[in-house]
Amino acid sequence: MNYRQFGRTDLRVSEIGFGAWGIAGPAMAGDIPIGWGKVDDTESKSALRAAFDQGVNFYDTADFYGFGHSEKLLGEVFGNRPDVIIASKVGQRLGADDSIQIDYSRAHILQACEDSLRRLKRDQIEFYQLHVARMQHLESGECITAMQDLQQAGKIRYWGISLNTFAPEPEGTFFMDHQLGHGFQLVLNLINQKAIGLMRAAAQQGYGIIARMPFQFGLLTGKLTRATTFERDDHRMFRLTPDVLQVSLDTLEPIWDAYRQKYQMTPLQLALRFILSFPEISTVIPGIKTVAQAQLNTSPGPLLSPEDHEWLQSLYASDFEALLKQMQGKG
Ligand SMILES: NC(=O)c1ccc[n+]([C@@H]2O[C@H](COP(=O)([O-])OP(=O)(O)OC[C@H]3O[C@@H](n4cnc5c(N)ncnc54)[C@H](OP(=O)(O)O)[C@@H]3O)[C@@H](O)[C@H]2O)c1
Repeated sequence: MNYRQFGRTDLRVSEIGFGAWGIAGPAMAGDIPIGWGKVDDTESKSALRAAFDQGVNFYDTADFYGFGHSEKLLGEVFGNRPDVIIASKVGQRLGADDSIQIDYSRAHILQACEDSLRRLKRDQIEFYQLHVARMQHLESGECITAMQDLQQAGKIRYWGISLNTFAPEPEGTFFMDHQLGHGFQLVLNLINQKAIGLMRAAAQQGYGIIARMPFQFGLLTGKLTRATTFERDDHRMFRLTPDVLQVSLDTLEPIWDAYRQKYQMTPLQLALRFILSFPEISTVIPGIKTVAQAQLNTSPGPLLSPEDHEWLQSLYASDFEALLKQMQGKG
């Protein structure tokens, strides 16, 4: 495992981290699936340990994942270990009517942080993120002072924002203009390259960068087919619909074939290596649910030549931007 500096902080993070949304289980907000279907907690805990054994020291979670279940598993496996870095998030909760409530009030943030610390069995969260806060929340200032006060109180070490999947701006620039926080979580993968400009500017200013969704919900691992369907408790049932799978695979398959021939690399390795080839990225956080995934997802395979990395970036304008628009329509 290689390690990279997390921006201007003193955190040294594994370049591959652990995306811990999937292990949260099949949570529902009313009729809306906000999880990935059924999981086996024993296997999830083994996966967390297996990733640690592979050198992973960075674990991304949120209080909303399984309404605390993901944090609880992390707490049971790692507790207060100082050699584990936990990144959690705040800002969403389940309302009394089972609807998703966006809450960036000071009172909620302070209480949610205490609750996360209890579940995680930790004294401090190393990186605490506003879970996709938008301009109206940032401009009110309440969530920003709450995060600063939590840092001052030692409850969190550093903080930042997890940016929107399809619209990382203007919140990214707002953070940079006001020199807020220490890091960004953004989507960067072969298909969604929208945040590259923002990522470069942010890294230049000393922000740590977490790249999420490296596999675009599994699509970029190469395991999904045009006929794949998902259970009702899996959020991909409304995102990776047959039309999206069809167009995506028509575009991706020739690229996978070319890189398989040239580098003997799998689609999964290409997905990871594409992201790791950006020096601005501090860590990429693939979703991991099993021991086998912990092993595969920490093996990104051969390095890409700079020319091939650039060519993959050029595909955004020619092929992937249109596909991303289609995905955006699904939420
Ligand atoms: N707004 C936010 O802040 C936000 C939003 C999204 C994600 N995140 C973070 O980013 C992390 C990663 O994103 P993600 O989980 O959405 O998506 P992802 O990592 O792009 O994809 C996860 C999917 O890839 C599949 N997969 C993983 N390893 C595999 C392997 N070795 N072989 C075949 N398939 C494999 C999983 O399949 P199975 O389902 O079959 O296991 C799962 O469906 C999350 O866990 C979370 O920590 C944050």
